[in-house]
Amino acid sequence: MKRLLPLLAIVSCAAPPASPPSPPRELVVEPPVVEFPRMMADTNPDPHVVEVNLEAKLSRVEFAPGQAIEAWTYDGGVPGPLLNANVGDRIIVHFKNSLNEPTTVHWHGFRISDQMDGVPTIQKPVAPGETFTYDFVAPDAGSFWYHPHMRSAEQVERGLYGPIVIHERWDQTPDFDADRYFVTDDVRLGDDGTIAPPSTQMPDQVHGRYGNTLLTNGSAKAVPFEFRRGQVERWRLVNTANARTMSLTVEGAKFRIVGVDGGLLPEGGVEAAQGVVELPVGARVELEVRLESAEARLVSLVPYVDANDELQTDRIVIAKGVSVAESGQDPARTLTWPGVAIPALPDAAASGTHLLELDGFNDGTGIKMTINGKVYPEMDMWMTNQNEPVYVTIHNKLGMAEHPFHLHGNFFQIVSRDGVAVNEPGLRDTVLIAPSQTVVIATRFENAGEWMYHCHIHEHSEEGMMGMLTVMHKM
Ligand code: C2O
Ligand code: CU
Repeated sequence: MKRLLPLLAIVSCAAPPASPPSPPRELVVEPPVVEFPRMMADTNPDPHVVEVNLEAKLSRVEFAPGQAIEAWTYDGGVPGPLLNANVGDRIIVHFKNSLNEPTTVHWHGFRISDQMDGVPTIQKPVAPGETFTYDFVAPDAGSFWYHPHMRSAEQVERGLYGPIVIHERWDQTPDFDADRYFVTDDVRLGDDGTIAPPSTQMPDQVHGRYGNTLLTNGSAKAVPFEFRRGQVERWRLVNTANARTMSLTVEGAKFRIVGVDGGLLPEGGVEAAQGVVELPVGARVELEVRLESAEARLVSLVPYVDANDELQTDRIVIAKGVSVAESGQDPARTLTWPGVAIPALPDAAASGTHLLELDGFNDGTGIKMTINGKVYPEMDMWMTNQNEPVYVTIHNKLGMAEHPFHLHGNFFQIVSRDGVAVNEPGLRDTVLIAPSQTVVIATRFENAGEWMYHCHIHEHSEEGMMGMLTVMHKM
């Protein structure tokens, strides 16, 4: 594959940005349990190494009981199995591609070497029947996910995505009574109940493909779970849809946002504005949920236009828990944890700046989406130095499309929207840019390498809204 950037003396930094905090080697800490339907099996006896097999293949799955359809799966199911490890663990994934086309696996949110990042301009795509071993150290605790980075609009839509949990250091893990992962998606099923082929129709090209069926942990029905009243739980949420921003809330329990893409927020967390979590495609959020009633529901708020042309909201229950016992605990009790150290924003006067303008046009053959006027694989030269603070201004010039902007290999902080400082704390790898909005983010680019940045609406990235950045290694 043609390299699209000049081959400068780029030394890819195999070491993660900061030396990963790991427990003393002699201390054996099994990663805590996360409630999720399927887990990857660790085949390595070393407690600091998680070694797993993962196969992409066609399989029949049931989104609703009794309705088997063909999906593209990891290990035979949608979503793929949960990868569960402790921060600082070495993760080895023996990946096999049994699809009928090339693919890669991208570890969304991982600050690892670009050689392991699953981007097909760096890694040779894994051809049908071939294998590749991903090998890296988990640099950060938090909720992440994995998915292909080739023809994503179809490969992810057809079912290739799965969750990852990297647990905090053993002595920094908050004392939640349960830890659950809800993977949210929407899929477009055709009249015959199967996943509709990718669309070349105009609304899908402009907005990305919205599904007609919400899937949570692969189920079109509300995911059932059980709890003991009085529990305080940690719920991890990821949005793996092609395009739909998820509006989520919890009924029957009090909740706060305690974590985002890059891990736990400082103690206490933050309230969701208006009690609704807006979760862009690609992003994660972690909730602290205080289960004080007999029933708790995770609800997706889905807007629609009714017969009178009025905007309405459907409240779709996507997970439903019932209390099966009393925990005997006070659901109002305070939990403590150290949280991620959120660095102060860099001094603007001593920082670089960069402008990314997101736009699009119709060239007569279809919609093209651009960054700084270029349609990928054409792109602007963007080079920076490792550990150099940069304020990046991202301007969405389109008044009709939103863009969940995603940066690989590095976290950033959200500084402002349309010139107004925001309180959206935490380290991020994804930020939603509303139509016509300008968002400023700040990053220090701790991780050297060649990194993609793109809109996470897969239709948009494939229409050209994608670029690559070189972070030069600091000697
Ligand atoms: Cu989740 Cu470049 O992707
Ligand atoms: Cu977009």
